[in-house]
Amino acid sequence: MKVKGEKIVCVTAYDYSSAYAASEAGVELILVGDSLGMVIHGHDSSLPVTIGDMAYHVRCVKSGNQKSFLLADLPFMSYYSESKSLENAAILMREGAQAVKLEGGAWLAESTRLLTERGIPVCAHMGLTPQSVNHLGGYRVQGRDPAKRQTIIDEACVLQDAGASMILIECVPESLGKELTEALDVPVIGIGAGASTDGQILVWHDLLGFYPGKKAKFVKNFLVGNREGIQGALAEYVRQVKSGAFPDREHSYA
Ligand code: KIV
Repeated sequence: MKVKGEKIVCVTAYDYSSAYAASEAGVELILVGDSLGMVIHGHDSSLPVTIGDMAYHVRCVKSGNQKSFLLADLPFMSYYSESKSLENAAILMREGAQAVKLEGGAWLAESTRLLTERGIPVCAHMGLTPQSVNHLGGYRVQGRDPAKRQTIIDEACVLQDAGASMILIECVPESLGKELTEALDVPVIGIGAGASTDGQILVWHDLLGFYPGKKAKFVKNFLVGNREGIQGALAEYVRQVKSGAFPDREHSYA
């Protein structure tokens, strides 16, 4: 799809019914995100999420998924060493995940190589990495400083060389999303990274506008003004990502 220039539509899901609806709406990739710690379990971050929680939700999503690619997050501290990443990724793959997502940069190169060589596709999550919120000092736009911007690009190239099949980039200026997408051969999926990435992802609860917590600039409620309910909102999200209408400037960082 990257080569053909066709946008990749992605959304998170955590249970049977949402996975079914997303898949039927034509969403190409479903992420069982550790954001479930916040939107499902009500914590104030994703840090309390365990590999057991992830395995349970992957199982639920797997039963509802019809035809979408199924990506699952390795949660906080479940990949602190290469052997831990392999052990925990295997748990999620056995539940039905088709790839795993890890948050970080070049330090993940060895785990990425190991997982890939053992048959587990890896997506590297860069930019704003919510599992490091305490180190980052909050949920802030990343890569504005020229040196940090270059580090993100260089480290994404390292991870691609190590075998990463996909990069997810969160909360960066749209120009960085564009540069990164052009620099890499693998697909780049953006969330708050502008319109130029190869695909877009949103959290289920944000797309339907019912998460009561703080709303990031890139969040758009597709239920507003939609008379067809959840299926209509999903169809509109798919349409707007495919056509490039979402995200617009209002939902991107300069
Ligand atoms: O956990 C999650 O839902 C994510 C998305 C924000 C991309 O990683």
